[in-house]
Amino acid sequence: MEKKFEVLPEHIAIIMDGNGRWAKNRGLKRTEGHKVGAKVFEEICEYCAEIGVKYVTFYAFSTENWKRSKLEVTAIMNLFRGYLDRMQERVLENEQAGYRIRFLGAREGMPKDIVSRMDDVERRSADKTRININIAVNYGSRDEIVHGVRDIVREIQNGKISADDITEELISSHLYTAGQPDPDLIIRPSGEYRLSNYLMWQAAYSEIYIDDVLWPDYTPADLDRAIAEYAKRNRRFGGV
Ligand code: IPE
Ligand code: IPE
Ligand code: MG
Repeated sequence: MEKKFEVLPEHIAIIMDGNGRWAKNRGLKRTEGHKVGAKVFEEICEYCAEIGVKYVTFYAFSTENWKRSKLEVTAIMNLFRGYLDRMQERVLENEQAGYRIRFLGAREGMPKDIVSRMDDVERRSADKTRININIAVNYGSRDEIVHGVRDIVREIQNGKISADDITEELISSHLYTAGQPDPDLIIRPSGEYRLSNYLMWQAAYSEIYIDDVLWPDYTPADLDRAIAEYAKRNRRFGGV
């Protein structure tokens, strides 16, 4: 694809929200919304790769989403399992060459068989460079910071570092996004004006774009609109 945008965010983070409302509007079960949402997720991944976005991070399941009914949680986990199986095959067949896939979030608390699939997909895609895809599963910003702080304290206790070595960079390097740039643009479909515990440290200077479209209806044209709006923003980072 030829170059489509003059200004392209290096890292886009998306909160895939609105699956339940989309289903409800159609008289369907919430789980049907998740099914369509999962398909849209794969389409948007490919579109991001085509237009040259280098990092894209999707919020798929939060640490708070366990509060939902067992039926809904099981349905989401099954969709995730199916996705991982497909990715394992594609990575193996080299079809999806170019996707480096990583998962952000706590592994503990996730079904064991899913964790082993996640590890496998991460390992097998580790040398791909076309696009970096992060999927936040069992992810919460506060939980991420708690884990990072624990690691740092252990390093101090082991005498590896001292308290004065704690810098912003050191903290960033102990988060699930270690080594990756902060998001330039955070997109939330479905019209909610909140971060819902998503990338709170990393979002310090992200541009935020709220869209009314529900995630299962989200298309590449909606992403184009968000990118065009981003291009008009004046990012000052505290300067003038
Ligand atoms: C996002 O859609 C998917 C997850 C949080 C897993 P929702 O299920 O939150 O959809 P709404 O917000 O109820 O419409
Ligand atoms: C955020 O959506 C989490 C994901 C999209 C995975 P929620 O639907 O859980 O957020 P709230 O409850 O509306 O804040
Ligand atoms: Mg929601």
